[in-house]
Amino acid sequence: MIKAAVIGASGYIGGELVRLLAMHPEVEISAVTSRHHNGKKIHKVHPNLRGLDLRFTNNYNFDADVVFLAVPHGTSMKIIDDYVESAKIIDLSADFRVSLNLYKEYYGEHLKPELIDEFVYGLPEIHREEIRRAELIANPGCNATAVILALYPFKGEISEAIVDLKVSSSAGGRRENVASIHPERSNVVRIYKPSHHRHEAEVRQETKVNAQFTVHSVDLIRGLLATIYFKMEINEKELYKKYFRYLKEPFVRIVKEKGGMQRLPDPKYVIGSNFADIGFTYDERNQRVVLFSALDNLIKGGAGQAVQNMNIAFGLDETLGLNYLPVYPV
Ligand SMILES: NC(=O)c1ccc[n+]([C@@H]2O[C@H](COP(=O)([O-])OP(=O)(O)OC[C@H]3O[C@@H](n4cnc5c(N)ncnc54)[C@H](OP(=O)(O)O)[C@@H]3O)[C@@H](O)[C@H]2O)c1
Repeated sequence: MIKAAVIGASGYIGGELVRLLAMHPEVEISAVTSRHHNGKKIHKVHPNLRGLDLRFTNNYNFDADVVFLAVPHGTSMKIIDDYVESAKIIDLSADFRVSLNLYKEYYGEHLKPELIDEFVYGLPEIHREEIRRAELIANPGCNATAVILALYPFKGEISEAIVDLKVSSSAGGRRENVASIHPERSNVVRIYKPSHHRHEAEVRQETKVNAQFTVHSVDLIRGLLATIYFKMEINEKELYKKYFRYLKEPFVRIVKEKGGMQRLPDPKYVIGSNFADIGFTYDERNQRVVLFSALDNLIKGGAGQAVQNMNIAFGLDETLGLNYLPVYPV
């Protein structure tokens, strides 16, 4: 059995990691940490996890083969030294996802620049072979995962794209914030970040496309939809072919129907699963490609992708503990 520890287990990503790891047939959870809930049973913070015999600890001296860092940006680089020698690390923060130059442009100064190149960018559909050999894995951002999966087949063919993102409230984490309380957050279509969103850095690094994001907060608890636009002379048949590369991928589905309730990706139909749904359309009159990418930010955009990376890095079947269909209706 793989001994797994989750640091930051009281957060939304931490809670999802614990849920997924508790159902994983090859994993034993050796520690779930929280500074504020030390000693409490896990369901006192995550009521959905009632029945699991786990208590939070603030003792960070534990035995683990893999450590998941589910902590805010800037925190992983402060605590990583304690685990680098003893375990594989899967970091869900943004601290080690991009090169130092991109990090400085989008985030600022880095405290551990010497470690950045040791990390593998944990997007299995692109970096599976490196992940197999990795000791340190930087799990991609949720928005970045959706955009990169849709754009990657166009790498080398386009240099710019406009990206409209609609994101749910859980993407902001659990910390208290007046803008996130129910009367303020409900019913919004709020421009959260009109330009220069930090996840652009990951897209630039992985696809070489200058993707320009505008991010809207919408009235969803989980899930996101990326709509991506760029000009290109192509047709729908050729667009289809671009996505043949994903036909063997266990967690990417192509959604493109002529009729019915769901013609193109919608986060509603991926919730609770590790799927990313990708679709497209071509506006012939304007030679404009429009791509759509939907996923659950807490699963394929976070905890599920981290478990997928763990499976690959430990030589397990990549789908172990993740092979279930979305919850519906939600
Ligand atoms: N939410 C998403 O959709 C999503 C998706 C992909 C990636 N991510 C990334 O995943 C990370 C966690 O996100 P989240 O949404 O779960 O955030 P969150 O709900 O705010 O949880 C973060 C947890 O980290 C713990 N923590 C904070 N500072 C710490 C420190 N110095 N040492 C140890 N633990 C500390 C806190 O627990 P205690 O205070 O109880 O110790 C907190 O519960 C972030 O970097 C985020 O950007 C989030």
